[in-house]
Amino acid sequence: MAAKDLTTREWINALIEPGYLLVWALRYYVKVNLETVFCKGQILAPLLHQSRVRDEAFGKFWVAFSTYLQANAPASPPPTQPPDQIIRSSDLIPPLLARASGTVLDVGPGTGTQMPLLRSPAIKAIYGAEPCHGLHAELRASATSQGLEDKYNILPCGVESADLIPALQRQGLLKTDASDVPSILETLSTTREGVFDTIVCVRVLCSVPDMHRTVQDLYNLLRPGGKMLVVEHVVNPWRTPKGSVIARAFQAFYGFMGWSWYLGNCCMNRDTTSALKHAADQDGGWESAELESWFESTPMPYVAGILTKRG
Ligand SMILES: C[S@@+](CC[C@H](N)C(=O)[O-])C[C@H]1O[C@@H](n2cnc3c(N)ncnc32)[C@H](O)[C@@H]1O
Repeated sequence: MAAKDLTTREWINALIEPGYLLVWALRYYVKVNLETVFCKGQILAPLLHQSRVRDEAFGKFWVAFSTYLQANAPASPPPTQPPDQIIRSSDLIPPLLARASGTVLDVGPGTGTQMPLLRSPAIKAIYGAEPCHGLHAELRASATSQGLEDKYNILPCGVESADLIPALQRQGLLKTDASDVPSILETLSTTREGVFDTIVCVRVLCSVPDMHRTVQDLYNLLRPGGKMLVVEHVVNPWRTPKGSVIARAFQAFYGFMGWSWYLGNCCMNRDTTSALKHAADQDGGWESAELESWFESTPMPYVAGILTKRG
């Protein structure tokens, strides 16, 4: 499986493409702020309830964007084998999610774009931790349309432990009902029992508040032998021969223009690969860490692969 070599024109397009997304998200932000003030009469909400307004704007943008993606997705059933050539980041996802099994944590599922890839009978139950409430109706509708309504449980929370651990307790997935999250995490780490057989992270570790902490906590929630399936965009490896200084500069430029603000806290400059590789250090490393880097000459380079916890 190889990435298609980009022509100069395709590379320039790849540099500019995030700009379209940024403008699209910005338009939703402006629209939601105006509606809040002039239609709902909540004059001070953009100042006093900024986080709620941003959340609503991002939710509306993401529903529109996912609808656009679905309308332009290939009509054929999702391939479980890697395509011969990887053209876009979405080509990386189907063969990886085909490896999901058992009890699954779907981190930041959005509107459920990846749900068609989680229909394997090997999957017993799926828990989608999605903090953006504006996306829940679409997510629920996705589960129903994929026949997963009995398997898919929406957790209305972020994946950071202070939110996730109580949500897992409410679902009866943790044995303890203690309220001291740090000591629960400590116990999970020392007993190595874990909760999930598979943890799916698709384009979400870019948005969590503390990526290193989150990756570490997710590792502790994996059962021995459990797998983390990852497709994440990362900082451009501009110091390496395959990276690009220009693409790294574009990442910085988009950051400066408010990328993170308008796109649900998404950061383009995270070294997610390194955080993932080191998450298992406490146990002497992963049993296997099959991670590959893609599109390294662009502002949206990806890391994708499977990390397996020691049994
Ligand atoms: C770029 S979207 C990706 C959605 C989905 N994984 C996909 O592939 O279509 C990022 C998602 O992560 C969610 N998110 C943001 N912060 C999060 C957090 N702290 N915990 C869990 N999900 C989060 C957002 O609400 C959004 O749905």
